[in-house]
Amino acid sequence: MSTPVPATFGSLWASLLPIGRDPGTGGYRRFSWTPSDRECRAWFEATARDRQLRTHADRNGNLWAWWDVAGADGNTAVATGSHLDSVPDGGGYDGPLGVVSAFAAIDELRAGGFAPSRPIAVAAFTEEEGARFGVACLGSRLLTGAIDPDRARGLRDGDGITLAAAMQAAGQDPGRIGRDDDLISRLGCYVELHIEQGRALADLGAAVGIAEGIWPHGRWRLDFTGQADHAGTAALADRRDPMIPYAATVLAAREAAVERGARATIGKVTAVPGAANAVCSSVRAWLDVRAPDGRTLEDTVDQILAAAEQESGANRVTLASRQESFSPEVEFDAPLAGRLAAALAGHGIGAPSLPTGAGHDAGVLAGRLPTAMLFVRNPTGVSHSPAEHAEQGDCSAGVTALAAVLRDLAG
Ligand code: GLV
Ligand code: MN
Ligand code: MN
Repeated sequence: MSTPVPATFGSLWASLLPIGRDPGTGGYRRFSWTPSDRECRAWFEATARDRQLRTHADRNGNLWAWWDVAGADGNTAVATGSHLDSVPDGGGYDGPLGVVSAFAAIDELRAGGFAPSRPIAVAAFTEEEGARFGVACLGSRLLTGAIDPDRARGLRDGDGITLAAAMQAAGQDPGRIGRDDDLISRLGCYVELHIEQGRALADLGAAVGIAEGIWPHGRWRLDFTGQADHAGTAALADRRDPMIPYAATVLAAREAAVERGARATIGKVTAVPGAANAVCSSVRAWLDVRAPDGRTLEDTVDQILAAAEQESGANRVTLASRQESFSPEVEFDAPLAGRLAAALAGHGIGAPSLPTGAGHDAGVLAGRLPTAMLFVRNPTGVSHSPAEHAEQGDCSAGVTALAAVLRDLAG
């Protein structure tokens, strides 16, 4: 497939690239309602303004840029976009590729003289990663009513700051968050472009793909509480060391995932008080589990939590576990996916269908309107890491594909 390089992708990409990047690791730390998030928001607004797109933050802090169409007020919009926040030391593509590609696709459509008959909206959803407040896709969950606003307002970051306080400090009124049916009713569909977070497209030799669905997944917080003691003098038999059941749980998670064809990860842990010469008093760990279907997910989580309970009991440690977020299995809208495939085929673009174990705002919005996703090839499949990468040629192919889809849906 030969793809012309859309003129504006490179400069847009370069303008976003430095924001929130840690010079030591090369990874991104774009956490919601922090200074780097503020810079990302300013970038979004300036980019939209440069294109004469009407821009605003919705009640939940999600950003929108509208290509309004005179006389088409009654028509629902074709929405696209993604998110700008990152995991700690995340890659540059997860999220931003979809937002930058959306603006570049609009540029490509305008350069070709396209006149839409429906509005086109570009969105940047807040706190998609849940890196600061623990709940993934928080902005889209609030918008669609998938999370209670009171619960959301009370979510705390690692320093104990609530979402309400963080929003207030950033100038956004937390009292107004929650389900926004008025905004949803103005959207006809949502098509999110995203870097693939696996190697399927690389193995298939395709630059772009279409998402079939998202595995069900969730996060659990595990608190192991024991007794702090002296590393040199406390006899092993006397210890109530929470690190022991925690470590056993890491291994149990791996074993359960292997046995059941699931994914289970403990990627975040804090030991308190965290002294090299003391048994710790508590360990807090976050468990992320994903599986091809809901039953397998449930069985995998049950097996891991049972092992955590048993090892805690055996070590006289107490365990408290709670589900922090949950996303049921998503099957994307088949007619919309078919329409994407046909639009791409019309441009000579073959786009295979893929399932994914990664979560996305498109999965949350799927509960309220037809949604679809385009994936762009990731040669190594590595994601949530500074090593995440997509080749320029594939990014261009993604923009061309998204422009073709928008032309079809909004034409
Ligand atoms: C987001 O990328 C997730 O899948 O957790
Ligand atoms: Mn991500
Ligand atoms: Mn993402």
